[in-house]
Amino acid sequence: MSLSRPPFPSFSGRSRLSRREFLVRAGLTTVSAAFGFDRVLAGCDPTPSDILGPYHADDHPLRTVLCSEDQVGTRMFITGRVVGSDCVTPVEGAIVDVWQADDTGCYSIFQSCGDDDPFNLRGQMLTDANGEYAYESILPGYYTGRPRHVHYIVSPPEGDSLTTQLYFEDDPQSNNQPAALRIPLEEIDGQLYGVFDVTLDYEVPADSDPDHSLPTAIKLHQNYPNPFRATTTIRYQLRLESRVTVDVFRADGRVVRRLVSANQGPGYYTLEWDGRDDSGRQAAAGTYLYRLVAGGTTDVKKAILLPR
Ligand SMILES: [Fe+2]
Repeated sequence: MSLSRPPFPSFSGRSRLSRREFLVRAGLTTVSAAFGFDRVLAGCDPTPSDILGPYHADDHPLRTVLCSEDQVGTRMFITGRVVGSDCVTPVEGAIVDVWQADDTGCYSIFQSCGDDDPFNLRGQMLTDANGEYAYESILPGYYTGRPRHVHYIVSPPEGDSLTTQLYFEDDPQSNNQPAALRIPLEEIDGQLYGVFDVTLDYEVPADSDPDHSLPTAIKLHQNYPNPFRATTTIRYQLRLESRVTVDVFRADGRVVRRLVSANQGPGYYTLEWDGRDDSGRQAAAGTYLYRLVAGGTTDVKKAILLPR
């Protein structure tokens, strides 16, 4: 294939982009179509699960660039779309949690890889209204005879998460892996580009707006990760402009932290709780409840804070 320009913007020498900036600048949908990347479609079979492995950590940061620009290795850009069990309907607001080894097969947090960033080569993204996500990383190295791979946990707003792994077709060590988990990588100007779509065994709720514009119901979503050790993400949606409060409180009813107290318009909202109370003190490990009150509706869910 002859390409006059890379399908992604050049990332050399620039700071990290927000997910939105990344998606907009990458032009995901048109890129994958225009440049002929084959989307990994597995009919209507859900994407196969794979083992979690020993190197998963809680609280990966929300980001689309998983390492510094001087990280040793071949730069790699992965995009994809998360869809429901009909293989068509995008899953908006899914958390795509990824982690991988560096070029030498070393995992941050668990091994001494010489990283300044304790979460090097780890991150979470939220899918947009088209179910799309994207991240920038490097091609993972080999370790203990394993193929090159990136670990994934994909969590829809409700329902079960999928734990799986991404492999690469050109890697001979990946031959025994499921075809739906092996993607081609396109090399352009020394950088690698790939598309990894994920089909969840998940029926997208009927109350989802088919135009993916505004919510049709007030809803508080399950936090992620849960349990958590440092921070957890809480999402909710509003159908109408409302007076909104979001509080975290103990089982005895005592409010620990007020996260939101504001008038907010219809839309989707994401916030983080860092496990601290209103005075900035670390809350004790244990079970907490978080509550959304908006437009005469109250919704409560449970969050578990682990010891630090
Ligand atoms: Fe691994």
